[in-house]
Amino acid sequence: MSSSISYKNVQKTFTGSQVVHALKKVSFTIEPGELFCLLGPSGCGKTTLLRCTAGLETLTDGRIFYDDRDVTTIPPFRRNIGMVFQSFALYPHMNVFENVAYGLRVRGIDEKSIRNKVTDIMELVGLPDVLRRNPSPTALSGGQQQRVAVARALVYDPQILLLDEPLANLDAKLRRHMRAEIRRIQKVTNVTTIFVTHDQEEAMAIGDRLAIMRDGLIEQIGSSDEIYHNPNNAFVSNFIGKMNFFTGTIGSIRGEHYQVQLDGRNSALSFTPKVSSELKAAAVGDRVTVGFRPEHLRIKPKAPDHEVLGRVRIIQHLGQIIRYEVVVEEGAGERVIEVDMLGTVPGVGEGDAVAIEFSERGFLFAEGGEVA
Ligand SMILES: Nc1ncnc2c1ncn2[C@@H]1O[C@H](COP(=O)(O)OP(=O)(O)OP(=O)(O)O)[C@@H](O)[C@H]1O
Ligand SMILES: [Mg+2]
Repeated sequence: MSSSISYKNVQKTFTGSQVVHALKKVSFTIEPGELFCLLGPSGCGKTTLLRCTAGLETLTDGRIFYDDRDVTTIPPFRRNIGMVFQSFALYPHMNVFENVAYGLRVRGIDEKSIRNKVTDIMELVGLPDVLRRNPSPTALSGGQQQRVAVARALVYDPQILLLDEPLANLDAKLRRHMRAEIRRIQKVTNVTTIFVTHDQEEAMAIGDRLAIMRDGLIEQIGSSDEIYHNPNNAFVSNFIGKMNFFTGTIGSIRGEHYQVQLDGRNSALSFTPKVSSELKAAAVGDRVTVGFRPEHLRIKPKAPDHEVLGRVRIIQHLGQIIRYEVVVEEGAGERVIEVDMLGTVPGVGEGDAVAIEFSERGFLFAEGGEVA
């Protein structure tokens, strides 16, 4: 039976040589059977939230519920949770069968049921042959070890499965394969699952919903589509998909139409942006951050009347799209703008000067904060 997980004002402060507020008032709910991704930069509190969920950390304040059951003070071994850590932590002195069977043995399950359950779960994770050979886990590939770790966490039908960067040790191709496998296995078992990663592509590919964390707080929760199209702020927008940022001042607002004077340009940008929730009360004269997705910018061969100019650094052919990395000068320095085009631009090669054009479909955020 899968259950929901609810966090109510969860706080975790580490007090040691220095005080760290790892979780600051976290409140949200994960639905039964959901594959939920926690995404955020290093040190934002992902592992801490997972460890609090499992009961491996004592909360400083707040409560955690599985369904209606308050588990805040219940020790981990009484919670029926499966966990997979970044280092799979298989037992090298036990064969594969005993590794997977471990959680059943400590629960006092009879030998025949253990044999059946281990056989079934190894089938589910795609390793029946490995079980027949039954070697030490040290004789398995990274991907096989990872599957054994998932099998070991799932074998006793946990209510909740917690995965902390389980694919971090695998190469890129195997990672993509295994993340699809994890989603398949999760959907078959329907166990409520939290999957921690700091890889946005992984989170977008695998999660039913995602939470973006920063500095001990949840910045936004939603499907990858919702967050991609309606990010709450500049940080989130650059964590789910790429965002190019420009700074400026609002010159006029007419309904949903804005004119923004971009810094370092003569003419104003005139467009109909998605306005982030933090900026609903924006007024003429306010400083803002303007964002454009790579697919909402265009480049053209440089012409005399064009203003925003840059030089193409790299052209990458990424299947459906061509990504142009354009270096633009800004103040004393320079930075890279990414522009995605559906085909190559005639007359534009690496090293060439180009003009950048903005589409109507930008974003408007509060000033600052675009740090991802
Ligand atoms: N046992 C601990 N004692 C003191 N501080 C800790 C402890 N565990 C975590 N922290 C601090 O809490 C903050 C959050 O750490 P956490 O491990 O949850 O981050 P994370 O999001 O999992 O990062 P990463 O992506 O690098 O794994 C960090 O500042 C970390 O240094
Ligand atoms: Mg971590």
